[in-house]
Amino acid sequence: MKSLTKINFTNIKTVGIRVDFNVPIDDNFLITDATRLLRAIETIEFVKKKDCKILLISHFGRPKERFDDKFSFHYLIDQFSKYLGLKLNLVTYENFMKKGLQDFKDSSQKLSLLENIRFFSGEKNNNKDFSKVITDHLDLYINEAFSVSHRSHASVDQMPKNIVSAPGLNFEKELLAIKEIKNSSKKKLAIIGGSKVSTKINTLLSLTKSCSNIFIGGAMANNFLKFQGIPVSSSLLEENSEKMISQIYTLSKKTECEIHLPLDVVLDNGQPITIDRLSLVEKFKILDLSDESMKLLNTLISRSETILWNGPMGMIEEPSFAKGSIKLANLLAETPNEVVIGGGDTLLAIKLANVSFQKYNFVSTAGGAFLEALEDNDLPGVKALNQDQ
Ligand code: 3PG
Repeated sequence: MKSLTKINFTNIKTVGIRVDFNVPIDDNFLITDATRLLRAIETIEFVKKKDCKILLISHFGRPKERFDDKFSFHYLIDQFSKYLGLKLNLVTYENFMKKGLQDFKDSSQKLSLLENIRFFSGEKNNNKDFSKVITDHLDLYINEAFSVSHRSHASVDQMPKNIVSAPGLNFEKELLAIKEIKNSSKKKLAIIGGSKVSTKINTLLSLTKSCSNIFIGGAMANNFLKFQGIPVSSSLLEENSEKMISQIYTLSKKTECEIHLPLDVVLDNGQPITIDRLSLVEKFKILDLSDESMKLLNTLISRSETILWNGPMGMIEEPSFAKGSIKLANLLAETPNEVVIGGGDTLLAIKLANVSFQKYNFVSTAGGAFLEALEDNDLPGVKALNQDQ
């Protein structure tokens, strides 16, 4: 994989940059978190200084393979321009369907954004002909979208293989942080939350091999508590999770990784309660962690040299059940130990805690890709950068 800083730009005039502008928006199409946009600036500025013409490529949401107004960049492009501090020109769906990138090539505009790449058939099935309609007009392809590199899509997998390619500057940082986490032989703690065991089972199995301790929080912990015979009443559960949990416990015994569960929780009536007293309550939902669980987390954090956090500890959409996640964000900001954080909802917890990302060693903007990168195999988007021309 070539580093962007090592590329010789003498004959490079037109550059494609795959970014991830799949940002959260509210009902009025207003961007609610611009972290992903801000992370792309360094690479865009780097290429701009080389006096190249730039085509930004991104997906937004999961539209069908045709134009769909609510997934169009035309509502967002002015906000993108504002956050990036750069004027962007949109290559519209109609224009691209009629003329491909001809107008982009002929135009004097230095910076363009192609309409949502997932509108075009060929993107999701990684079609080579489609990929060449784009890369045939480019001299260099940069992938600055680590958060989508677990998808075998044309703009992630095939396009970097067609021409000279390089990872974006932030992409490289993401790879480095994950490599450090995976290779560290230090005393490692993983704090994993969120709701579904099935989306994290492979990551959990990998972590069980490399961590000394794993703390399970969030709604996912309900399944583990139930597995241990603890009543969880109407708390959110995932069907058929027992086999996966049993697999995790079996492996953790072999690898001497200790699995920790919450000691106390907050119920839907707002009351904190220790796990051993749950059998005394008639009907309830577990929605957050309480003080004893936080104390356990604090002890585990102080005993670990490296800590990885992914997934909220409670229902953070509701302020009264976001306290556990906020406290955890603060504990991790205060520890002198190495902290790497990843995942969309986890970022929301940090935002709610009002903690700067600089307080942690690395904060990844990737969700699924972050988790898959922690598993044993390389991601398609990473492999592709090693197979460029
Ligand atoms: C994300 O939000 O995690 C990335 O943008 C990938 O989006 P996807 O899950 O729709 O591929």
